[in-house]
Amino acid sequence: MAGAIEGLPRLDLAVTRALPAAVLDLFRERHNVWLNPHERSLTAEELQQAAHRAQAIVVTAFDRLDAAAIAQLPATLRIIATYSVGIEHIDLEAAGRRGIAVLSTPDVLSNSVAEMAILLMLGAARRAHEAEALLYARIWSGWTPTQLIGIELTGTRIGILGMGRIGRTIARRARGFDMQVHYHNRRRLAPEVEADASYHATFDSLLAVSDVLVLAAPSTAQTKGLLNSTCLEQMPANAIVVNIARGDLVDDDALIAALRRGRIAAAGLDVFNNEPRLDPRYLELPNVFLQPHQGSSTLAARRAMGRILLAGIDAVLTGMPAANRLV
Ligand code: DGY
Repeated sequence: MAGAIEGLPRLDLAVTRALPAAVLDLFRERHNVWLNPHERSLTAEELQQAAHRAQAIVVTAFDRLDAAAIAQLPATLRIIATYSVGIEHIDLEAAGRRGIAVLSTPDVLSNSVAEMAILLMLGAARRAHEAEALLYARIWSGWTPTQLIGIELTGTRIGILGMGRIGRTIARRARGFDMQVHYHNRRRLAPEVEADASYHATFDSLLAVSDVLVLAAPSTAQTKGLLNSTCLEQMPANAIVVNIARGDLVDDDALIAALRRGRIAAAGLDVFNNEPRLDPRYLELPNVFLQPHQGSSTLAARRAMGRILLAGIDAVLTGMPAANRLV
């Protein structure tokens, strides 16, 4: 197995949600795996019970490990490995204070998530939801010159909020559509990474040029509710909003109102506030293309997420550094 180091101990590993069989097999080769037997997330209490069986726990972005939960973890728990790139569910400082290592899955899912961003962008621009609905309702009466006229993306401006690994991969894919890349990020990229992309020092400045705005920034205290009605008003006419990051970056009332009025032409959304109970008003809108949090859902990404966590666990056990170790 890639990353395995001979002589390392088999850990008791608690896995809080069924992972693809190929990934579980990888974990079982190296460690003793306890798996959540339910087809649902564990409750907070069950999560603690799972942690009490293990030296390492593999969680998902839907297992909340805030400071209070981390304080209750057993002293025997050495590693929290989150099967996600998002880390908003874990209080890293609290884990660090308890000497618990935290691992995540950066990089390995960037291609899959970027492909989803492109799907959302195209689905929104070309009215894929309305088009499918026409067919499934069996009411399509044939080609007409006025049928479901959409937005051509070639040559338009894509504005990417968050130019980390995922944002940069989206930018590379967008260049294939001859889109002009604009971005806002906490830090400007180095010239060789930035290439022909235009940096905007403020989000407001990015909004003004975003024919397609792609949210690819993590959920933090600074980004929560960031895309509000004031922001949406600053976007160009016929703009498209794509969210591949986290639902809480968006003020749903504001986006739904803008989509209803046509102030925003369309949205492609893979993530929502209060998943899986997304705001039901989205389901009533014709001009949205929705996916159920599928960004990293490819076998290539899922396997690689398992491998990078295993490699990170090996690194913790040997005291070596690991690129995916957060604390
Ligand atoms: C991630 O990796 O953060 C995905 O959104 C799944 O949680």
